[in-house]
Amino acid sequence: MKSYQNSEREGRPPEIADSLRSLNEEIRSCTRCPLAKGRTKAVPGEGPGRADILLVGEAPGRDEDLAGRPFVGRAGSILDRCLIDAGIDRSEVFITNVVKCRPPGNRRPKKDEVEACRPYLKSQIELVQPKVVCLMGNAAAKAVLDVEGVTSLRGQVFRDLLLVTFHPAAVLRNGNLKEALVSDLKAAREKAEGPKALHQK
Ligand code: URA
Repeated sequence: MKSYQNSEREGRPPEIADSLRSLNEEIRSCTRCPLAKGRTKAVPGEGPGRADILLVGEAPGRDEDLAGRPFVGRAGSILDRCLIDAGIDRSEVFITNVVKCRPPGNRRPKKDEVEACRPYLKSQIELVQPKVVCLMGNAAAKAVLDVEGVTSLRGQVFRDLLLVTFHPAAVLRNGNLKEALVSDLKAAREKAEGPKALHQK
């Protein structure tokens, strides 16, 4: 299976990595909303300073809160599987969430929490400059596009950048959705690779 290539971006300026590092520090010490009080670790996100694909989930769960890393629990295992099936190398994508701290009991983040965290996601997208942003699930689609109804919107690309798809946790609940998530991730890879790379396959 072909691994997703990121060679164009290899000459990336070191300032981006520095800016992401300082943004991560800011997130780790953030007290902008009440979620800060309940966290073990904030989960800023991870990935290369320049990645062609940026994935947005909802919020850290228990495993992510303990590890300080996104998608390392059960939803993470499914995401890893789907990325492999789509021919994408996890180490080459930037993975983050709408909110960077775990909501109590894994409830959906509240509006004011999403608002408080919004500048972090905005800065991450500006710094990483992805070619495709995958909005995984309703929370991500609502936060970024102000739309709801992932089941009918999945696979659609907005503003030539934002691709709506299922959240990996939805695939955990309903295995029939895996095919759609993999197919959307493949579409993201193909969009990121561009027409030239497609012809080379
Ligand atoms: N669910 C998410 O939305 N994000 C994670 O990091 C883990 C589970």
